[in-house]
Amino acid sequence: MSEEQRVLRVGVLGAGQISQAAHFEACRKAKNAELYAICDVAEDLLERMFAVHAPRKAYADYDAMLADPDVDAIIIAIADQFHVPMALRALEAGKHVLVEKPMGVTVEESEDLCDAARTTGLVVQVGTEKRFDEGIAFAREFICEEMGEMLALKAWYCDSTHRYTLTDALQPVIEASERARRPEGDPKADLRRYYVLGHGSHLLDTARFLGGEIEVICTQLVEKFGAYCWFSEVGFADGSVGHLDLTIKVRMDWHEGFQVYGEHGSVVGKTYNPWYYKSSDVECFSEKDGTYRRPLGEDGHFFRRQVEGFAEAILEGAPMRGANAEDGLAAVRGMVAMARSAQTGEAVRLSDVEGGV
Ligand SMILES: NC(=O)c1ccc[n+]([C@@H]2O[C@H](COP(=O)([O-])OP(=O)(O)OC[C@H]3O[C@@H](n4cnc5c(N)ncnc54)[C@H](O)[C@@H]3O)[C@@H](O)[C@H]2O)c1
Repeated sequence: MSEEQRVLRVGVLGAGQISQAAHFEACRKAKNAELYAICDVAEDLLERMFAVHAPRKAYADYDAMLADPDVDAIIIAIADQFHVPMALRALEAGKHVLVEKPMGVTVEESEDLCDAARTTGLVVQVGTEKRFDEGIAFAREFICEEMGEMLALKAWYCDSTHRYTLTDALQPVIEASERARRPEGDPKADLRRYYVLGHGSHLLDTARFLGGEIEVICTQLVEKFGAYCWFSEVGFADGSVGHLDLTIKVRMDWHEGFQVYGEHGSVVGKTYNPWYYKSSDVECFSEKDGTYRRPLGEDGHFFRRQVEGFAEAILEGAPMRGANAEDGLAAVRGMVAMARSAQTGEAVRLSDVEGGV
């Protein structure tokens, strides 16, 4: 990449739901990135998205996009099962990678991606965009710089029975194609797995972002009237305790947030459904001056901010603000531990887990 180039040329793999709702626009709005290319095997969808978003290139073949020397980085926005194989190919082609969450579906393949990130020295970021929520980022800064030692953390992520009414009202019309490539079988055939991968990945990443490394998880799962509730007691590496609540679906509005208790202060946060593009309401109480601090967080475009953070890490060598490959692996280990513990009723150490959710 030349010295003068300050804009990251991004190729997006997958023109499906998340690209249409988030990544295409995020790349177009980003101050330091460009939607340079898009790629999808479904050529009808590719054509429609090309007409709407006007990238410079459109590819039906991923290898052809990877062979384009003008593509600096790839956003991997395809089904979970395809993330790691396609991310590895991007790294082999010398491209930086922003891979959607969950980074992988097994511990082993996620380890492979971590190794490849290390050996190639390329940037691998995981698309847990909540790290770019200004409220959550403010909470993290307070925790790291002012709160002192952590005592305990609670975090909850509860999807709502009404979420599709809400997202349908907020998102653009999503175009679909009969020719879209999907993994074998129905991912929703096993809803426990589907929910842990889709939603548990966010919960674990936010808990780790705020509370640090998680060492052990003990989970109880209750299923009633079509709803699933995973209550997990977790032990953090620093000796503090945590409680994580993953409930799908609550009979009320979207319900997500966190509380953190520390030595010199505490943090309380309420997170909104992401499609509102509204930063979390966060209050940090500091014992130092006996006051609450509450950021406005007026820029709630987490997906655009995520691409900008990714581009800064690549173009300027800025510290990564997003989740890196190690964070992605830790979240996968956390999800596997949660699933195993729910099956056995035993506490599970994250360092011991193998296989998939
Ligand atoms: N960060 C978030 O909050 C968030 C929200 C929703 C979805 N996601 C994640 O985004 C990912 C994608 O989900 P989606 O709902 O957009 O999927 P989707 O199935 O709607 O779209 C994926 C598209 O990729 C294409 N594709 C797959 N493999 C390809 C290949 N090898 N070459 C070319 N094209 C290929 C398919 O044809 C399809 O059009 C999932 O991992 C999901 O977990 C993240």
